[in-house]
Amino acid sequence: MPSEHMHCLFDPQTIASRVRELGAAIDQAYGQAGEPLVLICVLKGAFIFFADLIRSMQTPVELDFVRMASYGQQTTRQEKVHFSKDIEVSIQGKHVLIVEDIVDTGHTMAYLKKVFDARRPASVAVCSLIHKIGRREVDLDIDFYGFRLDKGFIVGYGLDCAEAYRQLDAIYELEE
Ligand code: PRP
Repeated sequence: MPSEHMHCLFDPQTIASRVRELGAAIDQAYGQAGEPLVLICVLKGAFIFFADLIRSMQTPVELDFVRMASYGQQTTRQEKVHFSKDIEVSIQGKHVLIVEDIVDTGHTMAYLKKVFDARRPASVAVCSLIHKIGRREVDLDIDFYGFRLDKGFIVGYGLDCAEAYRQLDAIYELEE
């Protein structure tokens, strides 16, 4: 259940329609070449978006999952630079698309791109459901995104607040 301290930003129909558009755009970008494509889901937040996105695509893909170590009490975003779970497929010579729920400061994505780039893929690109720019600290290309936001703490459709609200089928902004 959503709480009274949040309001809906994107309802399920709006999200579904945007995800279908993203799937079509990704098909358009990769489908013609017939080259290997690996989609990497960044756990936990991207899991619902990832599941919907891959089912909106026609291009054959390999899937894998990565999980960044959680923030500790004293840990800053810049220090969140190791995996608690790495991917298991080889990406060498393959196109890679990293799928995130949100790019905020950009440090997580910058780290992921650097690590995957070093494994000699054919290319590395980024697909994020939310492209949030107000707190960006790293200059990053976001190749595909669902919705652009300036600020706000958002939950639902995989995104959490202290692990709550991931299961909501819409995206909500928490009110301060
Ligand atoms: C969130 C989100 C991104 C990262 C973005 O993950 O899923 O991975 O933060 O932030 P940044 O651009 O400032 O680096 P979180 O650590 O909340 O983990 P979760 O996906 O398991 O909720």
